Amino acid sequence: MDPKNLEIRVEKKKSFNVYKIREDFPILQRKVWDKPLIYFDNAATTQKPKQVIKTIESFYKNLNSNIHRGVHYLSQASTTEYECARKIVKVFINAKYEEEIIFTRGATEAINLVAHSYGSVNLRPGDEVLITFMEHHSNIVPWQIICERTGAKLKVVPIDDNGEIIIDEFEKLLSDRTKIVSVVHVSNSLGTVNPIEYIISRSHEVGAVVLIDGAQSIQHIPIDVQKLDCDFFAFSGHKIYAPTGIGVLYGKRSLLEAMPPYQGGGDMILSVSFEKTIYNELPHKFEAGTPNIEGAIGLGSAIRYVQNIGLDVIYKYEKQLLDYATEQISQIPDVEIIGKARNKASLISFVVNNVHPHDIGTLLDRDGIAIRTGHHCTEPVMRRFGVPATSRASFAFYNTFEEIDVLVKSLKKIIEKFK
Ligand code: ALA
Repeated sequence: MDPKNLEIRVEKKKSFNVYKIREDFPILQRKVWDKPLIYFDNAATTQKPKQVIKTIESFYKNLNSNIHRGVHYLSQASTTEYECARKIVKVFINAKYEEEIIFTRGATEAINLVAHSYGSVNLRPGDEVLITFMEHHSNIVPWQIICERTGAKLKVVPIDDNGEIIIDEFEKLLSDRTKIVSVVHVSNSLGTVNPIEYIISRSHEVGAVVLIDGAQSIQHIPIDVQKLDCDFFAFSGHKIYAPTGIGVLYGKRSLLEAMPPYQGGGDMILSVSFEKTIYNELPHKFEAGTPNIEGAIGLGSAIRYVQNIGLDVIYKYEKQLLDYATEQISQIPDVEIIGKARNKASLISFVVNNVHPHDIGTLLDRDGIAIRTGHHCTEPVMRRFGVPATSRASFAFYNTFEEIDVLVKSLKKIIEKFK
C-alpha cells in the first residue's frame, strides 16, 4: 500500500491521519520480539490513548476519594467527575435520562444484572428467552442460569453458513411465550453485524423486551438507544479505549425502576433497619458498594477521545481496513475465512488447512503480530462451523494498511513452513 494513500479523507470536513492518531497510543511505539508491535487483538481489548492514561493518573494524583459519601472537597470533586462520566455516556448513546446509565464491571455484569434482576421477577415456567447461535458465552450462560431457576426455556435462533442469523427461523421461534430477546450486535468471532433494528421491532410486537450486547459494536458503530428503541444495551469500557473493570448497562427508566436490586450493599440504599430497607433511586439502586471510580472517569475520557475523532469517521476508516484485509487474506491459498456475512465489522476469523490456530498465533507473535486464537468464548459457533478454534485478527482505527500487508506476508511464510 502506498503510504501516501494513508491520509484518508473520510468526510468532506474531517480528515483522518492514522500516523497522528498512533502517536496518542504509547504502547504502539514498543517492540515485541524486537519487531514493531502490530496489535490485531482489539476485539479482546483495545489499547489506551495517553489522554485516558493521563486522566487516570491525574485522578489518583489530585482527586482520589470515595464518591457519594463525603462532605469534604475531594469526595465532592470525585463525585462530580464520576457523575460527569455518566453524562458523557448518556449523550454518547443518546439515552433519554442520566439515571438510565448504570455503571457495571463490564458487559458481562450488565447482562447478568438483567438476567437476574429482570429475569427473576418476569420469567415463569413456560416463558421463553430467545438468543442466537452466535452469542458470546456471557450472553448464553446467565440466561441458562435464570431459565433453570424460573422454569423458563432458552430458545436459540440458528445461523447460516455465512454466519448470519436465519431470519425465518427467528420469526418461527418468536411467539407470545417469548419474554426476553437477547442478541449480540456485532459477533466477536464472526464479525457479523446483526439487523438489530428489525429484531427489536419484531420482538416488541410480541411483547418481549430486548437486550443488545454491544460489547463489539460500541467502539465501531454509532449507537442511538432511543432510535433503536432497545430496552437494554450492554457494553464494556475496555473495548472502547477505556480501562478494564468498567462497563455500562443502559436500561429504559420504567423497566429499571420496576426491577429489584441485583446486589445489596452501601450506596444502593436510602435507609436500612433490620425490619426494612428502603432502596436508593436510580441509578444508585444498581451500583452497590464502592464502584470503579477511576474506571468510570477513564471511560468518560475515552468516549471524549472517540467523539473528538468522530465515530462516523472511525467507522468508515475501519470498514476500509476490513475490506482490504478481507481481500488480501482471502487470496492466500489454504486459508478459509469463517464468517462471510454481508454486513461485517472490524474483524476476520480464519482457519488454515493443516495448521492449528495456536501455531498460527504463536508464529505470528514472533513477527510482532498479536492476534487471538481459540474459541473466542463462542463454543457453539465453533461447533456450528465444525472447527475447534479460529485465528482472529481484529482491527481498530489506529491500525494501518501496511500492518495488514505485514500480517499477510507473515501468514504466507508460516503456511509455506508447514507444507
Ligand atoms: N470477548 C472478548 C473477545 O472476543 C474477550 O476476545
